[in-house]
Amino acid sequence: MSRCLACSAQIEPFIDFGSMPIANHFPTRAGFRDEFFFNLAVARCPSCELVQLVELVESTRMFHDHYAYFSSTSAGMVSHFAAFVDELGPVLEPHSGTRSFVVELGSNDGIMLQHLEAAGHRALGIEPSANVAEVARARGLDTHVAFFTTALAHALREAHGPADAVVGANVLCHVDAIGDVLEGVRSLLAPRGVFCFEDPYLPEILARGAFDQFYEEHVFYFRARSVAKLAARHGLELIDVAPRVVHGGSMRYTLAQAGARAPSPRVAAQLAYETSLGLDTPAPYEALAAKVSRLAVQLRETLEQLRAEGKRVQGYGATAKSSTMINYAKLGPELIESICDVTPAKQGRFSPGAHIPIVPHEQFSANYPDVALLFAWNHATEIFAKERGFEAAGGQWLTYLPEVALGSSGQ
Ligand code: TMP
Ligand code: ZN
Repeated sequence: MSRCLACSAQIEPFIDFGSMPIANHFPTRAGFRDEFFFNLAVARCPSCELVQLVELVESTRMFHDHYAYFSSTSAGMVSHFAAFVDELGPVLEPHSGTRSFVVELGSNDGIMLQHLEAAGHRALGIEPSANVAEVARARGLDTHVAFFTTALAHALREAHGPADAVVGANVLCHVDAIGDVLEGVRSLLAPRGVFCFEDPYLPEILARGAFDQFYEEHVFYFRARSVAKLAARHGLELIDVAPRVVHGGSMRYTLAQAGARAPSPRVAAQLAYETSLGLDTPAPYEALAAKVSRLAVQLRETLEQLRAEGKRVQGYGATAKSSTMINYAKLGPELIESICDVTPAKQGRFSPGAHIPIVPHEQFSANYPDVALLFAWNHATEIFAKERGFEAAGGQWLTYLPEVALGSSGQ
């Protein structure tokens, strides 16, 4: 039986998707033969409440020098990070002088570092994928190519002094060695320093049935209860929570050195809310598993029906998260002719596992399909607004969360 990555208790699997490819690895035709598959299953730890993957993929298979995700491709995310930095400002207490020293874990192409610098902080990014880090460096943003570990934290403190804040967005949920990262954060933080991170919020995933958040990069699915317990195990304390709309519903958690800062009443309220949802019992997790099978069947049936009607269907946004739906529902190029995406590194390649061709956005706009299947559903507002021409030309959107639906965006 598998053990919890945080507390070593025996974990209880509640969903098993079977064999899945790496969701953020878009193979060329020549790479089909070498595609890597693993068993995607998700479990809950009944002891510390951390929801987690049962089988892990080695991190060097996921984050490397041809990592395909560039945060700055979405205008919505750029403004989100500007707001993150604005909201961090009042919480910071520089341990010396007037400038705060802020370390960002998983700084990607510098989307948040640029705002930190612009706000007058001293910002240092830590990013394991060399190609995305290079984009940040070319923009003059200080970035260190490495995985963040306790050993690195000690070296950083030696070289730069303690950090007033460590920040991370959609990063901590990717790290299986989470205990080592939290130890590192604690040793890097100044006495009044804060660790502010955000990740998809488990109760939102459950509420929407957003099982496409389940893929190899997302090792953990946090909520306030599991984060509070995790923090306590590493000399830290959860002092604030703030819900955010990105990635289909995220939570921003603020941790401080245990006892250093008074927790906001929002923490106790969030814990009580989670308990009221029954999240400390197996029922909501079993309900999600049932919904997952139903949505996959319904999406496949809808696509088969569209094919029978002779309709052209194109995917919109070759998101990593769509890999789980595509492969679990067994969708392929016979149902979805291609997927358009603005990311040059994905174009000309194929979707993981199912091998649906990925094409530039121009191949959508120059020759609209009858139906666009919205894989980038977390960017729906932005996309519907800029694709009014598609609907004006008679195009329909197909979405699958929270339910399978075909029709107008209503915009
Ligand atoms: P994300 O859901 O992980 O942010 O990934 C979004 C993907 O969708 C990324 O590959 C970029 C792509 N995309 C488009 O192709 N067009 C768009 O308008 C948006 C917002 C994203
Ligand atoms: Zn546990």
